[in-house]
Amino acid sequence: EKGTYPYYMLKEIDDQPTVMRRVVQEYTDSFGETVINQEIIDHVTDSDRIYIIACGTSYNAGWVGKAIIEKMTNTPVEVHLSSEFGYNMPLLSEKPFFIFLSQSGETADSRQVLVQANEFSYPSLTLTNVAGSTLSREADYTLLLHAGPEIAVASTKAYTAQIAVLAVLAKAVGDHKGNQSSLDFDIAHELSVIAAVMETMIDEKMVISQLVEDYLATTRNAFYIGRGVDYYVSMEASLKLKEISYIQAEGFAAGELKHGTIALIEEGTPVFGVVTDKKTAAHTRGNLKEVESRGAHNFVISLQSLAKETDQVIIPDVHPLLTPLVSIIPTQLIAYFATLQRGYDVDKPRNLAKSVTVE
Ligand code: F6R
Repeated sequence: EKGTYPYYMLKEIDDQPTVMRRVVQEYTDSFGETVINQEIIDHVTDSDRIYIIACGTSYNAGWVGKAIIEKMTNTPVEVHLSSEFGYNMPLLSEKPFFIFLSQSGETADSRQVLVQANEFSYPSLTLTNVAGSTLSREADYTLLLHAGPEIAVASTKAYTAQIAVLAVLAKAVGDHKGNQSSLDFDIAHELSVIAAVMETMIDEKMVISQLVEDYLATTRNAFYIGRGVDYYVSMEASLKLKEISYIQAEGFAAGELKHGTIALIEEGTPVFGVVTDKKTAAHTRGNLKEVESRGAHNFVISLQSLAKETDQVIIPDVHPLLTPLVSIIPTQLIAYFATLQRGYDVDKPRNLAKSVTVE
């Protein structure tokens, strides 16, 4: 129920801290140890490569998951669009393990890949919000997102829940392998910190609403840029913005701009920079300067320890692998307010359905 909320999307953005706490509750014990079916852990440990298969927002979550899983488990991870993978299957490793990410569990493009994986008897796991859904029934294993029903077409809490559950899985496998980076990663604690920081960001609603008025009132297009996980967040942030506000929005790898995309920057073009990674912050700042000198109207979302006074949104520091869980929040609010201010239906954008059951 959306209760007093004007739109489901706003309620679902607000739900996210609760969802993080629920993931901790469902998947860790009172000692902070992970609680995941041992068979799943054994399969992942045994595999030489993980294939994450998904569409849309779930695909974007997969990229963040890849960064976390590789760090914790040392197993290579590939992330694929279901609709591409299904018809142009890449050469697979000897012992693949398939992870399907699907909020609804009903996405036809993803199911089509699962059917093929089953033909070869490759082990598979579905992360979904819907118990008993098709992708859950047809995969060997399921991990539920526990995000609660997601009604708005634009996915928000399923994205953060997918990342959180993938992080728990990464930790479980990494610990099983005895990897130090994993043993040092206190997932229950870190996700609790995330929940609190999410609340801080959600409390910034009115600030974001004003910024959106300043930056996006009349624009036809906008860009998000970042590197590494900040690039992955940029892909999701731009999908969110375009699908509900109809502003043409694209997410780009900041370093790739100069290889073509920078030609699109005009006087007043809004460019959102995501700066949460110490390794790449200086380079992304450099890229922001480049677009600014060509007229871009820069909007920077940064982590406190990397922030400049002139940045528009500053996020308290969290675990470096989990920054997408918090940097995504202001971008969800940006999409929400841009849509509201343009007078469109936030929950039901044109041409889109909540679950896509055709290929
Ligand atoms: C975007 C959105 C879609 C879905 C995509 C996959 O906000 O909702 O891009 O993420 O259709 O859906 P699921 O996760 O149900 O397979």
